[in-house]
Amino acid sequence: MGFLADQAGISGDTPEYTQIDIGVLIIGAGAAGARTAIELSQQGVEDLLVIGKRSHGDAHTTWARGGVNGALGTHDPEDDWTIHAADTLNEGHFINDSDKVEAVAKQMPDRLRELDEWGMEFSRTEDGNIDQRYFGAQSFRRTAFAGDHTGESMLNTLVERAQDLNVPYRENVMITKLLTDANQIYGAVGFDMDTGDFLLFNTGAIVLAAGGYSAIYNRHSSRDDENNGDGPALAYDAGASLMDMEFVQFHPTGMAVDETDSEWSQWSGRLVTEAVRGEGGRLYNANGERFMERYSPKQMELDARDVVARAIAKEIEEGRGTENGGVYLDISHKEEEFIQERLPRMYERFASLGVNLAKEPVEVAPTSHYGMGGVVVDNSGETEIDGLYAIGETMAGVHGANRLGGNSLAETLAFGTITGAHLAENEPTPGIVPSEIRQSEAKSHFNELNTLADQSGQHSVMDVYEEIQEAMWEHGGLLREGESIERGLSKLSAIEEKFGQMDIGKITSRTFEFAVDVAFMLTSAKAVLISAQERTESRGAHHRLDYTDTAPKWQQNICIQQENGGMQVDTSSVSPPSKSVQEALDAGYELDYHQLE
Ligand code: FUM
Repeated sequence: MGFLADQAGISGDTPEYTQIDIGVLIIGAGAAGARTAIELSQQGVEDLLVIGKRSHGDAHTTWARGGVNGALGTHDPEDDWTIHAADTLNEGHFINDSDKVEAVAKQMPDRLRELDEWGMEFSRTEDGNIDQRYFGAQSFRRTAFAGDHTGESMLNTLVERAQDLNVPYRENVMITKLLTDANQIYGAVGFDMDTGDFLLFNTGAIVLAAGGYSAIYNRHSSRDDENNGDGPALAYDAGASLMDMEFVQFHPTGMAVDETDSEWSQWSGRLVTEAVRGEGGRLYNANGERFMERYSPKQMELDARDVVARAIAKEIEEGRGTENGGVYLDISHKEEEFIQERLPRMYERFASLGVNLAKEPVEVAPTSHYGMGGVVVDNSGETEIDGLYAIGETMAGVHGANRLGGNSLAETLAFGTITGAHLAENEPTPGIVPSEIRQSEAKSHFNELNTLADQSGQHSVMDVYEEIQEAMWEHGGLLREGESIERGLSKLSAIEEKFGQMDIGKITSRTFEFAVDVAFMLTSAKAVLISAQERTESRGAHHRLDYTDTAPKWQQNICIQQENGGMQVDTSSVSPPSKSVQEALDAGYELDYHQLE
């Protein structure tokens, strides 16, 4: 859906706005945006600005918990980047872009050492090295961590580094549209969420580091106002292609709670980090059976996320679930002190709810956690639109059909560095199109925003927002089926009709922010369902009940482009890995779970 595409009666007044001229605009202030800015700045580029929807240092990255991957070999010296790449391709069911996978795996040891130099408070071994823990489906202990608050520690470190370099940052800005001309980006428009002032960014290049789309589902592990598909939707509306959108990762262990208890219900779907299982946590059904023995006797609780999530769903569906619709996760066989040290945030969260993680199990069930798909980019992070880059969870390619835990933070650092270095070579400058073109496009969009704010109607924004999330959970969830996907698409069309009948409110209101999100969510949700319908097989996180096998002919990517106002589906082929990574694949490394016992 084009933002406000169906609006009528847009006024012709000239709205006031502020123009900001900037060489490189980075949209999104999480780890990917921060690392890009640091690279640009370290390479001498000063004409840049990072903008975020929240205050500085407050981004979704802070919720990333269990760790960040890099083949340091702290405990397992035989690990190296080729095995990291091989594990990533295996987990991605071989539709990842192998160039991008290798670029990430190869540079991660350096990226981790660099964070260490910048002061990140990694958890350490007794001899002071960066500690590494087990994470699912990885052949070696490769996940570096800071307790279970890795994202928070990492973002704090990056923000401090950026501040030391005097990287300019502007908070509370929401971007609503990107401006392009003849396949060239030249600006972005949006508003200051505090004052409601309209903003026109006149730019030479834009880096979209605006997150993914996991929160288009009603049970999810993201913050409620983040990851609602704005990154992919902004790029798509500007003419870029999306890829792999059908692949949504359902994390096996989101909190399963009593929804009628307000103290608990606020935590529904929130992450219980994989680190609990990486540190030895076990899953049991309501009959006390350690059920992963039946589904994955070799890798047990640390098999791939899609495997564990489907196993849990099956236990629940077959009547072996808990009171609150989950299964039990139990780490009470470990010492309390160990849990407090390795999993401090989890320990504190459950303690605040009256549960001692060291003494009793907690209830968990799958929750939407990460969108593997996103915007099509080349090896520098540039989209098909000149000067528009997409990185981190906004881009597609690294994770394929499923993502390894710990690889999302890795991707933010690796692609932030790659894209920053690439842009530093070119030093983009603003003023690409004549000012009349820029101003006329901006004014017409600001008029649309004014019209949206004035809109009144019979539907509440939050009801429409939640309707999308419910439709996606029901029709595009963990287990999918053709007819149901079709019904989901019809529901989205009906919801789209409601867009023009929502009761909105002034530009600084939360309802206005969520109304803009609804437009983004609709675009991303539709792309997920259309791609899911197209892929008539099961692969990784995409599981079709009507096509349960993996079909070799589908070892390709599904892409979505705009054509004649609709979504056009296309496919693209995958390239083989390099010789050294193929050798690592052929060697057949895999996690030895029994080391945890
Ligand atoms: O479970 C977790 O801590 C999640 C990590 C990730 O998705 O990378």
